[in-house]
Order: sequence, then C-alpha cells, then structure tokens
Amino acid sequence: MLSVDEKIIKKIHSLYDVDKEYWSFSGRSKRTHCHGFIKYPAMMVPEMQGELIDLFLSVREGINSVFDPFVGSGTTMGESIIRGLDFQGVDINPLAILACETKSDSFYLSSLEEKINLLNRRLILDKSEAVEVDFPKIDKWFTPRVKIELSKIRRAITAEPSKWARRFFWVAFSDTVRDSCNSRTSTYKLHIKPPGYLNDTSCCRDLFVRKIESNFNLKKEQRELLKERGLLPRSRITSTVDLQISDIRKKPNKHDYERHDLLITSPPYGDNQTTVPYGQFSYLPLMWIDTKDLRNSVPDNLLLNSSSIDAASLGGSKRGALLNIDRLRGLSKNFSSSMDILLKSNSSGVGRLSSFIRDLDDSLDNILLRMKSGGFLVWTLGNRHISGNKIPLNEILRELLENRRCSFITEIDRTIPFKRMASRNSSSQTMNEEKVLIMTKR
Ligand SMILES: C[S@@+](CC[C@H](N)C(=O)[O-])C[C@H]1O[C@@H](n2cnc3c(N)ncnc32)[C@H](O)[C@@H]1O
Repeated sequence: MLSVDEKIIKKIHSLYDVDKEYWSFSGRSKRTHCHGFIKYPAMMVPEMQGELIDLFLSVREGINSVFDPFVGSGTTMGESIIRGLDFQGVDINPLAILACETKSDSFYLSSLEEKINLLNRRLILDKSEAVEVDFPKIDKWFTPRVKIELSKIRRAITAEPSKWARRFFWVAFSDTVRDSCNSRTSTYKLHIKPPGYLNDTSCCRDLFVRKIESNFNLKKEQRELLKERGLLPRSRITSTVDLQISDIRKKPNKHDYERHDLLITSPPYGDNQTTVPYGQFSYLPLMWIDTKDLRNSVPDNLLLNSSSIDAASLGGSKRGALLNIDRLRGLSKNFSSSMDILLKSNSSGVGRLSSFIRDLDDSLDNILLRMKSGGFLVWTLGNRHISGNKIPLNEILRELLENRRCSFITEIDRTIPFKRMASRNSSSQTMNEEKVLIMTKR
C-alpha cells in the first residue's frame, strides 16, 4: 500500500513520463469564466491549479478548505469554488481583493443585466465635463479629455445603489483605467509613454462597455459551471469565502488557526526592483475606484502614493535587513551560499535578497498557524536573478519550512509560457522557469 505522500509523487511524476512539458500547460491554458475578469500581473495558470487541487482531493479524503496567503486576483480561489471548497485569501493589495470579491459573488445575473442597461443609459445621458478625482501627478497619467471620460464612467458607477454591482463595475473599470492611461503597456511599472504616443482617446466609454459585456459573459459561464455542479443554490455559492486585505506577516485571529487543509499559492518573487511591482500596476485604477466599496476597509497608508503598496509588501523595505543575515544563514544553507556570492560582487543585491527573505521568513509562522497538521503546501516559485546570480528560492523556502516541522514531498519543474511576462520588464525576463514546491505540515 502506498502512503499518501507516495501517491502524490507517483501521480505527479507519471504525468512527466508521458510528456516532459506536461506541467507547463503550454497551449492548454485559457482565461475562461472568472479568470478573465481583470488584468493582474503574474497570474497563475488556472488549469494547473485546478489539476493540483484535484490531485490532492484524489489522494486524501476530507480536504474542505483551501488557503492562498498571496491571493492576487484569485486564480486558486476561482478553481477552489468550482470544486465546492471553502476558501480564504489574503493580499496586501486592495485591487486584488476587489477582484476576488467580484469573482466569488454577483451571481444575480438578471438583476445584473438590468443594472448594466441602466449604467449604459446613465453613460449616454451624462454631458457633464466635471472631473471626479484628483491625486498627485494625475495630469501626467491622463489627458484632460480622458479625465472627463473616466469621470463620466465613475459617476455612472457610483449612482448604482447595490454595492455588489458597483464592485462588478469597478473591476471592469480597472482595466479601462489601465488601457486609457499614459503608462507604457510593456512594463508593470508606471513608466510614461514617449511623446507622440500619449493616449488622448475619447473612447474610454467604448472600452468600458465592451469590458462590462465581456465580464458579464464570463460571469454567465462561471454561473453555468457552478450550477451544473450543484454549487449555486439560490444564486449563492456553497463555498464559504473569506477575503482579507492584510499583510500576511500579521498574526491571524484565533478563529483562523488550523483552519485549512490545503495551501496553494505563488508568493511575490522578490522586491519590486527585481520582480513585479503589483502596487504600481494597481495604483492608477485604485485612484479612480471608490475603495469604500470594498467589503474590507482599506488602510489609508496603502494609497498614499504609487509606491506605498509595494513598500509595504514583502521585500519592500530594506531597513534593518542586513542585521538579519546571520540569523537567516543559520536557517538556510542556500540563502547563505547565495549571500556569499552576492557579498563577493559587493552588489546592492545583498540588501535586496536579505530583506525579501527576512520578510518571507517573517510570514511563514503566521501562514502555518492557519494550516491544519497534515495539511499540504503547494508553492509556485520563480528562481529570480540578482546581479546576474540565480537565487534558488525554492531551496531557500524548503529549508525555511523544514525548520518549522514541514516535510518535503516533491517538486515540479515547469517552463512559464513567456507571454505572461511584461515583455520589457528585463528583470522578469529571467523568470521563465518555475518550481512548484510540495510540502506538508507535520
Ligand atoms: C504572484 S502574486 C499572486 C498571484 C496569484 N496567486 C494569482 O494567481 O493571481 C503575489 C501577490 O502577493 C501579494 N503580496 C505581496 N506582499 C504581501 C504581503 N506582505 N502580504 C500579503 N500579500 C502580499 C501581492 O500583492 C501579489 O498580489
């Protein structure tokens, strides 16, 4: 008789035997139902997360609750709820939580359709030229004409009485704001377009209306899927979904202790210099959206400027990081050898790596507190480069977890379909390989 761990190893590796690129999901990934709602950086591959969840469900009975401590736009969540599993997601970025809220509710489609018609009417009738928001450097990112157009959309959304519908509209609006701003599309950072390429379109409304229509169709698809599986009685999903805007390094409430059977996540890979600045990507939409409509309140400090979210994220602050190097060396040999290499080249990478690993390490106790013993942990990680040196993040995380009574089960190597990366974000270009680390909490 195989043990549960052996069954997991056998299942994962038997798929490799058939096809070495099996776990790359190249050409087998589509952003269907809720996965197509919003643009968000570094989204995981839904089909892969779904298949991993199925694999765990097939080897162990009693898996009911999934946790993603870096939930992003909710790929793991979308796949969990279509399997009827309870879900908890945490993210420091309010835009990520807004996306997750809309993906897990707003199933009253006939009412939504009526509300969309009314919204379109309000948009056509609005002749006002008033600009609804102001924030530092707004004129850098939006031309006067675009500000007027976006303001009409904002007014039309705020006039909607139901919060759940407003949230649905804000998510579509987020993509409209990104598509009509003057930041380059080739990078997730806020980086102004060259003169001559500035966006002075008056078709923000068309962009928005098309996005609403497309999200409505995706929502229909999601609803059909849930209904077919008996997971949507009276237009509410059977799963309990709990979403929190929070820094995962904070200690959870007692009622969240030992709550989950399965963790599936993809943490940020590093600081915002070397990887994805989720906060900068989200800043302009968050300046236009009425964040009071989020179910959770948004801490003011996160919206102070375009760097606030990234500064509060893992690896966002280097203060005091060097003081932790010796302690972290004691926890991870791979961290220690990477540090030796970086110290020789005397690069700024020393501060960057130590701050990120310190923050990741600071999050682990609080993440594990939420997991049941015997729970599975699935981490998708990229091995990023700092000053030209490849940092074995998978090995470092494995050691940090082994220090906390977690055991290694197996690992998957996969190549990332390249189009997921912003093409000119050169630091991210090195991340075309990912590891999926599978462990268990003893
Ligand atoms: C790789 S993304 C997650 C992608 C997500 N799994 C998906 O498929 O959409 C990493 C996420 O970690 C979040 N993050 C960074 N630092 C955090 C922190 N201290 N606490 C909670 N979330 C954080 C970022 O905002 C980002 O959404």
